[in-house]
Amino acid sequence: MHPAPTTPSPAPTSAPSSATSAASLAHWSEAGRRGMEAFYALATEDYRQLAAARDWAGIFRDLAAGRDRLTLLDVACGSGKFPTALLATPAVAALAGELVVETDLLDPSRFSLDEARGTLAPPFVGAADHECTVQDLVVRPGGWDLVWSTHGLYALAPDEVGPGMARFVEAIAPGGLGVVAQATTASHYLVVDEAFRGSFDPDGVRVPYTSAEQVVAALAGLPVTVSEELLTYRTSVALDDRATAEGFLQRCVFDDSVSLEAMEADPVLGGYLASCVEDGRWVFDHAVSLITVRHA
Ligand SMILES: C[S@@+](CC[C@H](N)C(=O)[O-])C[C@H]1O[C@@H](n2cnc3c(N)ncnc32)[C@H](O)[C@@H]1O
Repeated sequence: MHPAPTTPSPAPTSAPSSATSAASLAHWSEAGRRGMEAFYALATEDYRQLAAARDWAGIFRDLAAGRDRLTLLDVACGSGKFPTALLATPAVAALAGELVVETDLLDPSRFSLDEARGTLAPPFVGAADHECTVQDLVVRPGGWDLVWSTHGLYALAPDEVGPGMARFVEAIAPGGLGVVAQATTASHYLVVDEAFRGSFDPDGVRVPYTSAEQVVAALAGLPVTVSEELLTYRTSVALDDRATAEGFLQRCVFDDSVSLEAMEADPVLGGYLASCVEDGRWVFDHAVSLITVRHA
């Protein structure tokens, strides 16, 4: 594989801006691979549902506007689960040979950039890497036809959401499209984070995960039109598959030190987990906002 060209965006030499961001970065690493795999034993379903929620092949064609290519910036690319889910759909796979989606990847984690790059296949063709946070992105002249972030903005501190979304909007080319998929406060990801921090972070070192509501509020101050659609994902794991449940939950909170047993024994987190039990399974419900952004 050819190394991707790097861009003028600042390398992540500065310390993570919060304990939440530090926990995220520590887990998006080779050392965190097992936890990542445990998480995606369930969360791959999120991306499958996201891929089914739109006519993405049609969106690519519209943005290409008669050309044979378009440019994409994948913000917080993680390990590339969204492109992977899209490639599994016949409509996007069939674009190979017809259209090139020149894909720039952005992530503060070198591990994530390398993982995501390894998943790309036509019509996605890897272009530049931006090894930085979204709030530190140096937007190239002209931006990108399509800028998306799928479940990528949780680790921004509250005061970084405004600057992060400002860079996101700046990155959308004139006539282009921005898409954000982000869990709402009612979603499992944010509920479990809240319960976990309440019991296992008593000094309040961590900051809460960013919600879709915060993303939309940040966009409200920018010269864009925004529309939202609520998606509901449901993932589940058998009650007796404790290893999978533990790995998934530990990754949700970026903390491998608290066992499933300890989580269940905690009055708040345990109460929440008990409320997720249905027919011999833990069932986790996600209320996710699919946010569409265009220049006003
Ligand atoms: C759950 S993954 C995103 C999943 C991804 N969209 C996919 O398709 O698989 C979250 C990613 O956000 C990255 N991240 C954390 N803080 C960030 C920030 N401030 N700006 C951009 N990315 C960030 C992490 O390093 C991690 O790779």
